[in-house]
Amino acid sequence: MGLYELQLNGQRVGDWLLTPGWTSYTKRQPYQTYDVTKLLQAGGNAIGLMLADGWYRGNLGWKEQRNSFGEYRAGLLQLHIVYADGSEQTLSTDASWKASEGPVRMAELYHGETYDARMEVTGWSTSGYDDTNWKAVTLVDSPLELLIAQENEPMRIAEEIRPVQVLHTPAGETVLDMGQNMVGWIRFTVKGEAGQTITLKHAEVLDKDGNFYTGNLRSAKQTVTYICKGDGTESYEPRFTFQGFQYVKVEGYPGEVLPEHFTGCVIHSDMEQTGSFECSHPLINQLQHNILWGQKGNFVDVPTDCPQRDERLGWTGDAQVFVRTSAFNMNVASFFTKWVRDLKADQFPDGGVPFVIPDVLSKDNHSSSAWGDAAVICPWTMYLCYGDTRILDEQYDSMKGWVEYIRSQGANSLLWNTGFHFGDWLGLDAREDSYTGSTPKDLIASAFYYYSTSLLSLAAEALGKREDAESYRSLGYKIKEQFRQEFITPAGRLVAPTQTAHVLVLMFGLVEGETRSRVIRTLVELIEEQQFHLTTGFVGTPYLCHVLTENGYHDVALKLVLQESYPSWLFPVTKGATTMWEHWDGIKTDGSFWSDDMNSFNHYAYGAIGDWLYQVVAGIDTDHKQAGYKHIHIRPKAGYGFDYVKARYESIYGEIRSEWALSEDGELTITITIPPNTSATVQLPDARLESLTEGETSVQFAEGIHVQEQTAEGVTMLVGSGSYRFQYLQQRR
Ligand code: BGC
Repeated sequence: MGLYELQLNGQRVGDWLLTPGWTSYTKRQPYQTYDVTKLLQAGGNAIGLMLADGWYRGNLGWKEQRNSFGEYRAGLLQLHIVYADGSEQTLSTDASWKASEGPVRMAELYHGETYDARMEVTGWSTSGYDDTNWKAVTLVDSPLELLIAQENEPMRIAEEIRPVQVLHTPAGETVLDMGQNMVGWIRFTVKGEAGQTITLKHAEVLDKDGNFYTGNLRSAKQTVTYICKGDGTESYEPRFTFQGFQYVKVEGYPGEVLPEHFTGCVIHSDMEQTGSFECSHPLINQLQHNILWGQKGNFVDVPTDCPQRDERLGWTGDAQVFVRTSAFNMNVASFFTKWVRDLKADQFPDGGVPFVIPDVLSKDNHSSSAWGDAAVICPWTMYLCYGDTRILDEQYDSMKGWVEYIRSQGANSLLWNTGFHFGDWLGLDAREDSYTGSTPKDLIASAFYYYSTSLLSLAAEALGKREDAESYRSLGYKIKEQFRQEFITPAGRLVAPTQTAHVLVLMFGLVEGETRSRVIRTLVELIEEQQFHLTTGFVGTPYLCHVLTENGYHDVALKLVLQESYPSWLFPVTKGATTMWEHWDGIKTDGSFWSDDMNSFNHYAYGAIGDWLYQVVAGIDTDHKQAGYKHIHIRPKAGYGFDYVKARYESIYGEIRSEWALSEDGELTITITIPPNTSATVQLPDARLESLTEGETSVQFAEGIHVQEQTAEGVTMLVGSGSYRFQYLQQRR
């Protein structure tokens, strides 16, 4: 209940940080196990626990909220001993334990840590220590049935970076520049007199004059204070806090502030990196870098909106928007399995879903469309990417609960036109005084109702629940009919002239035939009106390029993606961003900030373009009928402004690779790898069978390649596992 660091015989046990992590503690209380054999010694042994408030009872949210999960900090521990003769003994925390205060004077996730090294208690977790003056602990009630073992990768220092420079700002501040907006903390060494106080303040950006800027942190202090004991070179790093920052203002440091005295410890849930994407366009490579770092900084046990201000919460909308991209970059199977279990635990009896998971906000309101849909989209995406039906099985009631919740809202069970919705959050077609784009909220809500119902039907099918599969398919069909009646004129015009509205109906398959053609044409016109700029917010942006490519406008998608002027994905990149920004104009063209009140420079949502880079430009995708990349689709969109693309994805079957390079004279070389025990459908754009070779042979005669079709669009083949090198002449685009 809180955070702990465990010590045995004076040594820290393990390298897991911010333990026990963050879950919906009142329903699921996590614990960790460690093999401590090596730390034991002959004779006396001693165990100690340091505790801090953390998520459990520290400051959470922007309203100075505390004690979100309980009033007391507490620790529960068991030491299981197996003796050489096979006998066993268990030692546990009980009333005989003793407690005292230590050098950590303040520790808060948002605000930092204050450590007075003069108060260190030498040897406190060793057996020789005299604890006569320590007080007895207080026993608190803790329902043991809530205990769950660690479910996902622990948080660790995943990498360490050094400041790239020490700045002296116009305001006279000494500031470390880490060269990267990062999440974690600073480790440093110092030689000072006893009582010398060093303060580190953390910020994401400098203002337009080059001064240290913390306005966007709101009430989060992000301040680490260290008071020297005056004992030669001292080294310190915090334990019970983390900061989101690129710049560190150093105050009170005795002697010269040199980069070598400071190390940035990058902390996140220690998941395996599974994907990489590289191409001939340096700004797109930086964009991919920013997407990945947005993920690192916000996958700190819970998928959070941001890692720096007084928020850092598991916003459901943001998570569903980014989930597929995240699954390319890293193995997020356990990470999301844990999180959707919390979602299920926090879901209301009527199926409603809190805005954030773990839920610390539901007193205000809950269940917005496109946010609550995380209940369906996240487990479905995990199934899609990892092919494990257990997650669908476990989450099925939660998924169904959400769809039934929507069905029960308002008088019309086939539309969702009641209640509160965030809408197209931060869409640029918002009114001056609003955060929400102008796409009608009932259109968004009803479109997501249809989408979640369709996914639920697919999930039921994957689980062999035939009746449900059929009944949600038919519910979906009816929603679609209602949707068309409500939002599309008989002539095929969509009532809302916004990019996001057009994107949603195309993406979710709410229009067909002639209407579809009209909707895509209108979307392209809307984009042209903006001189190839987007106006979409959180809801429309993730799908924008997908629907353009899918419907024959890949060139328009590329113009948007390669657009460098505001608003665009590359605009922040040209401004030196190293992570994704919350706003398209976090820093405006004139260098001023969007606003102080909600301006994160590390918000992964718009990083959702990453899955389009992997899925479309590199062309790596799976098939929901043979999920988890059992059957793979390789359909690279070669050319169009790139000379080469190299992508790899470490699937659960092994490495999938898709690389292509276009030579000056239009010869395209596509190299792919298909892992063991899988098969792939390969579609090569603009290829002609007669001139298409694999290795040295025409594909028509190549072994292991089954040509399926030659169409105007190209050649489609079925291949088994192995590596292939295709070559053909393509018109340069
Ligand atoms: C968060 C978002 C979140 C939103 C809900 C913001 O404060 O940072 O990313 O989805 O609130 O509208």
